[in-house]
Amino acid sequence: MKKRVLSGMRPTGPLHLGHLLGALDNWRLMQETHECFFMVADLHALMGEYENPALIRQNSIEMVIDWLACGIDPKKSSIFIQSQIPEHAELALILGMLTPLGWLERNPTYKEQLREIEGRDLTTFGFLGYPVLQAADILLYKAHQVPVGEDQLSHLELTREIVRRFKFLYKKDVFPEPEALLTKQARILGLDRRKMSKSYGNAVNLSDSEEVFNKKISSMITDPARVKLTDPGHPDQCNVYSYTQIFADAGKVKEVYDWCTAAKKGCTDCKKELASVMNHGRIREIREKRMTFAKDEALVRDILREGEKKASEVAKKTMAEVKELLHLVAD
Ligand code: TRP
Ligand code: SF4
Repeated sequence: MKKRVLSGMRPTGPLHLGHLLGALDNWRLMQETHECFFMVADLHALMGEYENPALIRQNSIEMVIDWLACGIDPKKSSIFIQSQIPEHAELALILGMLTPLGWLERNPTYKEQLREIEGRDLTTFGFLGYPVLQAADILLYKAHQVPVGEDQLSHLELTREIVRRFKFLYKKDVFPEPEALLTKQARILGLDRRKMSKSYGNAVNLSDSEEVFNKKISSMITDPARVKLTDPGHPDQCNVYSYTQIFADAGKVKEVYDWCTAAKKGCTDCKKELASVMNHGRIREIREKRMTFAKDEALVRDILREGEKKASEVAKKTMAEVKELLHLVAD
């Protein structure tokens, strides 16, 4: 029996190369060895965006298109939107009954976000309960493993505590304790060498056209010591080189290293080479796949309907079990 995996992302905007090389490549590989459920966490997005929910629907569809383009395969995985499976809300409500307030208040991610997120009022019931909904997402599918980034580890720990408390209270082993699979931070940096992030405006998006993409590459900062073409450069201090290492083959990487350190070619040419490598290899494949799905929203909807069916089946079964155990069923 394959182990079951569930993971999700909030639909808050276009995905970028950091998501590809961090989470999505990892998800893609897990499809071969695990039974995977991949969820668009639109209810979680609503917790942050409740004052301005207008973009959630479009962002959800766009995100699914990004996933499909990157190789998340509906034949192997169940892809669905959280809000379409009402059992998420139902289980979250029930888990909320037995989750002590103190566990939520001392959650470090919660405290950090309250401090850091500006411009919105997050002193809501829903935001405090964010990790309870996340626990429901995971437990509804009895997932064994949950690939997540470092910032989500405290949510996973809380999920495990909820599982133990549930078992202690009702003396029944309904949920396995899910294990976090830590997704390594992607090696890729943003265009300005800070962490790649939408909020820094330094991201290369999966949905960028070739034109936008080339423009972004040409704006990258290179080794500041290379002012003139005749100045030898230090590839290890250059972001263009680190992108080249990620996307080009070994031969090309060596070539770039040589021409930079021996001052044989200038940075403008070097960037053009990089853009060309990226526009022909994997990124091109993703871009083309993305366009096919973007043109065929009906197909994307079919994929989601299919994923929802599979998710719903599991979710209904778990909820029936939980309600029975908690005497929430009419005799
Ligand atoms: N909270 C996660 C994030 O912001 C998204 C998420 C929601 C999630 N439900 C989940 C991740 C369940 C893993 C499992 O990235
Ligand atoms: Fe960077 Fe290429 Fe310029 Fe060297 S030649 S500094 S690797 S952009």
